[in-house]
Amino acid sequence: MISLTCSSFLISILLILSSSPNVLCCHEVERDSLLSFHRYISAAAPLNWTYSADCCEWEGVTCSSSDGRVSHLSLPSRGLRGTIFPTFVLNLTSLSHLNLSRNQFSGPVPDSLFRRLQTLDLSYNRLSGAIFQSNQTLPISITTLDLSSNLINGSVDPLFLRLASNLIQFNVSNNSFTGPIPSSICSGSPLLESLDFSVNKFTGGVAPGISRCSRLKVFRAGFNALSGLIPSDMYYLKTLEEISLTNNQFSGPMNNDISMLSNLRILELHVNELSGGIPPDIGLLTNLEQLQLHTNRLNGSVPPSLTDCSNLKTLLLRNNLLGGEISTLDFSKLQRLQAIDFGNNSFAGEIPGSLCLCRSVTAVRLAYNKLTGEIPPCMASLKSLAHLSISDNYLSNVAGALEILKHCDNLEVLFLSRCFDNEPMPDLLLLNGFQKLQILTLGGCQLKGRIPLWIAKLRKVKLLNLSYNQIYGPIPTWLGDMPSLFVLNLTQNFLSGGLPPELGRLPALISDNSSSDLSYLALPFLFDSFQYNRLFNLPRGLKVGNNRLTGSIPKEIGRLKLLHILELSNNFFNGSIPSELSGLVNLEKLDMSGNHLSGEIPRSLERLHFLSAFSVANNDLEGQIPSGGQFDTFSPSSFEGNPRLCGAVLHRNCPVKSSVGTSLEEEEEESSSDIPFGIGYFVGFFAVSISLVFHSPWSSGGVVTRSISFPLASSL
Ligand SMILES: *[C@@H]1O[C@H](CO)[C@@H](O)[C@H](O)[C@H]1NC(C)=O
Ligand SMILES: *[C@@H]1O[C@H](CO)[C@@H](O)[C@H](O)[C@H]1NC(C)=O
Ligand SMILES: *[C@@H]1O[C@H](CO)[C@@H](O)[C@H](O)[C@H]1NC(C)=O
Ligand SMILES: *[C@@H]1O[C@H](CO)[C@@H](O)[C@H](O)[C@H]1NC(C)=O
Ligand SMILES: *[C@@H]1O[C@H](CO)[C@@H](O)[C@H](O)[C@H]1NC(C)=O
Ligand SMILES: *[C@@H]1O[C@H](CO)[C@@H](O)[C@H](O)[C@H]1NC(C)=O
Ligand SMILES: *[C@@H]1O[C@H](CO)[C@@H](O)[C@H](O)[C@H]1NC(C)=O
Ligand SMILES: *[C@@H]1O[C@H](CO)[C@@H](O)[C@H](O)[C@H]1NC(C)=O
Ligand SMILES: *[C@@H]1O[C@H](CO)[C@@H](O)[C@H](O)[C@H]1NC(C)=O
Ligand SMILES: *[C@@H]1O[C@H](CO)[C@@H](O)[C@H](O)[C@H]1NC(C)=O
Ligand SMILES: *[C@@H]1O[C@H](CO)[C@@H](O)[C@H](O)[C@H]1NC(C)=O
Ligand SMILES: *[C@@H]1O[C@H](CO)[C@@H](O)[C@H](O)[C@H]1NC(C)=O
Repeated sequence: MISLTCSSFLISILLILSSSPNVLCCHEVERDSLLSFHRYISAAAPLNWTYSADCCEWEGVTCSSSDGRVSHLSLPSRGLRGTIFPTFVLNLTSLSHLNLSRNQFSGPVPDSLFRRLQTLDLSYNRLSGAIFQSNQTLPISITTLDLSSNLINGSVDPLFLRLASNLIQFNVSNNSFTGPIPSSICSGSPLLESLDFSVNKFTGGVAPGISRCSRLKVFRAGFNALSGLIPSDMYYLKTLEEISLTNNQFSGPMNNDISMLSNLRILELHVNELSGGIPPDIGLLTNLEQLQLHTNRLNGSVPPSLTDCSNLKTLLLRNNLLGGEISTLDFSKLQRLQAIDFGNNSFAGEIPGSLCLCRSVTAVRLAYNKLTGEIPPCMASLKSLAHLSISDNYLSNVAGALEILKHCDNLEVLFLSRCFDNEPMPDLLLLNGFQKLQILTLGGCQLKGRIPLWIAKLRKVKLLNLSYNQIYGPIPTWLGDMPSLFVLNLTQNFLSGGLPPELGRLPALISDNSSSDLSYLALPFLFDSFQYNRLFNLPRGLKVGNNRLTGSIPKEIGRLKLLHILELSNNFFNGSIPSELSGLVNLEKLDMSGNHLSGEIPRSLERLHFLSAFSVANNDLEGQIPSGGQFDTFSPSSFEGNPRLCGAVLHRNCPVKSSVGTSLEEEEEESSSDIPFGIGYFVGFFAVSISLVFHSPWSSGGVVTRSISFPLASSL
């Protein structure tokens, strides 16, 4: 028997004596075992596991330096597919570590693996069926078990956990496990430090028992269908650093005893049905970095002690029934705070000035509350602030607010809709701030005045919402030169004059340049009821409906290849519909209803292959309704209120016409001259990526950049 290490010296001898089978460094029976494993798999690029070579030199194989036996087999991300041959480990008596993570193994997980190994990582494969179905009470040696991100179903056998007395890490997240979380978890495996049951189909309550895991640091069971009270014995596990039970149906109050978990860094109980108040002694959790309690039914006020959690980075309380004056809270101790979300509660009082002392804060949402007063001037000092949402409150002095916020040099997103009422449109003379602003919403404030010139200086603004105000005067021609603008919402104002042809040159609606500007927003948000969590492609739109606009629709609008939505409804537009609108090759919604448009509907619009909503109702149009392309799908209501329109959709026959042929050809020529057809959709669809790189919403790695699920409803 060879008890030497497989040194390169030995290999040289091997090469010389390669005909002699006795000099192989690895044990023959072990080599055969590996080959029996190999027989059931295929690899994208072949493994160099040739019969003649020393198996200790094979890719992924490590032998023990003391006895030359195989101790580790590690082939992660190797493009392997096939099944795991159940008995291959039986003769590999020293194998302690098997890592086949991120391959494409399928079929069941053999029980034999748990008995022999210490570390088993089979994460990110396609393993299926149930685990551990044997009823043999042989001891289980495993200490680290990662079966996460497979297709495993069935329940976790309590017998398994009872036998696995050395288990330290257990991860079965992102599978299809059913049944209860085994209550015997900790009675057999007292060494456990990390338990991850998240993203499965576990049901029922969590029975007491977890406190027997006296070393437990991480407990995750989010994204299941668990219910009942939060297991109260958990509150006595002083070792706990992370609890994540998000997205379940836990109910009842949080227990004040939770304040005994002095090592807790992460507490995620969001998206449950918890009620009652936030525990008054929560301030004792001085190591807490992340507190996510949003989307529950918590009531009462925020306990003053909360601001003693001086390590807090993330504080999310939105969508609860909390209230009380927030002006009385002293945020000055939260020097590490990055994101705070108090949105959609009933908080009253003024925005607390002590919030200005949170120097690290990048995102603040106070939207949808009952806040009064003005934006505190000290907010000008929040140099890291990227995201501010205070929509839907009862604040005053919008001009003052903008004068203050323009000093927040890093502000990218500013939601101020329905937050002020009936004030003059602010006029910021000599504006030199907001140079990073990408989203500005000031909708629904009944602001009076003209579209102010300072907006022209917002070179990064992509979305501008001035809808539902009392803005009068013309749409300024300079809007067409705003370099980044691709969502313009001027709906429901008193705008008059024509639609400027200059809008037809809006650069961000013609060619996509966002790949050179992959800006990171501080937080994901919800837009027009779609949530954009990671990447988002905002639907590009031009909305000027419900105004007093006159004149004809400029043909130049037809150049806006990337436009998805064009709303011109309920104005006084006249003249004919320009056939050039067929250049809007990405258009999904076109609303021209409620105007004085005349003439025929251009046949060229049949080329708008993505058009799913169309209306020219209530105009003065005539002639035959186009019948090809998407026009086959529109209902009569798209055309009603035009007595002289005819066509099958309206069940109204058209008189036979002689000159139809020529006019169509003219149209074809005209529109094909400056609008290249075809590539538009592709560019548009993948275009507007304001990338948001977040970790998956359920992983809780405790990394600073991890997911803060913080959707900002457009109404917030
Ligand atoms: C097999 O490949 C691994 C790395 O891929 C290499 O380290 C090893 O030397 C190779 N062994 C033989 C016998 O070719
Ligand atoms: C283990 O090795 C013995 C020979 O030592 C052999 O007979 C047996 O088939 C092997 N078992 C497996 C599962 O490979
Ligand atoms: C398995 O290998 C992957 C890739 O190298 C590594 O990230 C992972 O930590 C390994 N698993 C264990 C349990 O060591
Ligand atoms: C194990 O289960 C089988 C049936 O699946 C049964 O025949 C056998 O008696 C059981 N053994 C023990 C020890 O319970
Ligand atoms: C469990 O595995 C998943 C990957 O499938 C990983 O994201 C998660 O962090 C792991 N859980 C723990 C507690 O390490
Ligand atoms: C969940 O598992 C599937 C494979 O079953 C994998 O494709 C997916 O990426 C995993 N999700 C996460 C968040 O790791
Ligand atoms: C587990 O999945 C298999 C198919 O992969 C199915 O046949 C079996 O019924 C499932 N078992 C449970 C308990 O859902
Ligand atoms: C909070 O809700 C509970 C019921 O869940 C109720 O008993 C209690 O009075 C409420 N407290 C406040 C301050 O509204
Ligand atoms: C506010 O929260 C409630 C649940 O507490 C939810 O039903 C509602 O949709 C939320 N409103 C907004 C605007 O997000
Ligand atoms: C724009 O303002 C209107 C009116 O307040 C509102 O309905 C809409 O949700 C706002 N859109 C966004 C993206 O803020
Ligand atoms: C624009 O205003 C309309 C009201 O007509 C509103 O429904 C919509 O959400 C707004 N869209 C954007 C992008 O602001
Ligand atoms: C894209 O933007 C960059 C700077 O942001 C500019 O230099 C470049 O000319 C733009 N390209 C196009 C095609 O507009």
